[in-house]
Amino acid sequence: MGTGSSQDYQKIKLRKLGAYFGAEVNGVDLTKKLTSKEVIEITQALAEYEFLVFKNQNISSEDQIRFAEIFGKLSVHPFSPNSEKIPELIIFENDENNPPFGTDIWHSDETFRDSPPMATCLRAIDVPKVGGDTLFSSMSAAYDGLSERMKSYISGLEAIHDFKPFKKLFDNDEAGMKDLHRFELMWPPVTHPVVRSHPVTGRKVVFVNPQFTVQIKGMNEFESRSLLTDLFDLAKIPEYQYRLHWENNTMVLWDNRSVQHYAVHDYWPQRRHLERVTIEGDKPFGSDVVASEESLLGGKSPRPAGVKPGHGNHAPKREFLREIERSK
Ligand code: SIN
Repeated sequence: MGTGSSQDYQKIKLRKLGAYFGAEVNGVDLTKKLTSKEVIEITQALAEYEFLVFKNQNISSEDQIRFAEIFGKLSVHPFSPNSEKIPELIIFENDENNPPFGTDIWHSDETFRDSPPMATCLRAIDVPKVGGDTLFSSMSAAYDGLSERMKSYISGLEAIHDFKPFKKLFDNDEAGMKDLHRFELMWPPVTHPVVRSHPVTGRKVVFVNPQFTVQIKGMNEFESRSLLTDLFDLAKIPEYQYRLHWENNTMVLWDNRSVQHYAVHDYWPQRRHLERVTIEGDKPFGSDVVASEESLLGGKSPRPAGVKPGHGNHAPKREFLREIERSK
């Protein structure tokens, strides 16, 4: 991490927040269009510090959108509560009649996408007096803290990500199941490297999260579950964390490629109102040769390469396979 000295940054002032990541940005007025030098420095600081806090920015949703669009195209979240007029704008407006849903779990945003967002911008409009903090965890610091043995073990692995938490939003009846199926076709599970390389800094990042990651590709279920549990637990290590206490008009920009977050739901039923936009990103890539499924499977009865379970020449037929056959 850079020093944040005036040599590195001349147009913005940075105050380091966490031991491993995070900085408060001062000297910018987000009601105004930023100069190209300010933009360059904020972009550099985002990759370097992973998580930037802008305080006392009394700005509108439009100002927030204009700011975020500097970094790329904004995405529309298929499942989060959003503005009807501006679908890119996610509105977290919770009170006694609307409890918060689904953000009190460690995650990087929208990793169920083939190309998850590169960054997220979240702005506090009305925050509770007590509670409602957001925790951030640096997954590059978490990677650096692993033993060389563990780094080499997880290098080249891939994991499957799915929009599983949002499946609860569909009705549990025939129509709901039909709708869910339509969305499952639109958002099929995707595969990302377990260790991604940050496209700007080149740092390695542990890129699995308990919200969306469902399995390590090519591993038996129990192997996958125990490895994922260990990797998910990395975000909980206090040394890698920063806990943000929100004030009205605080805005945060985090690098979704290197940071996970967790919204603490302890404030409910008090009111908490924040607005969020996410900036499209690229397909994550690792820096290692991907391990083949066969090399990972092993076990008591290894299968010849290319043979899927239940799909061999003499495999017994199963009803779902017949159903698929019938529909062809
Ligand atoms: C989110 O997960 O994007 C929401 C974070 C928060 O409400 O603090």
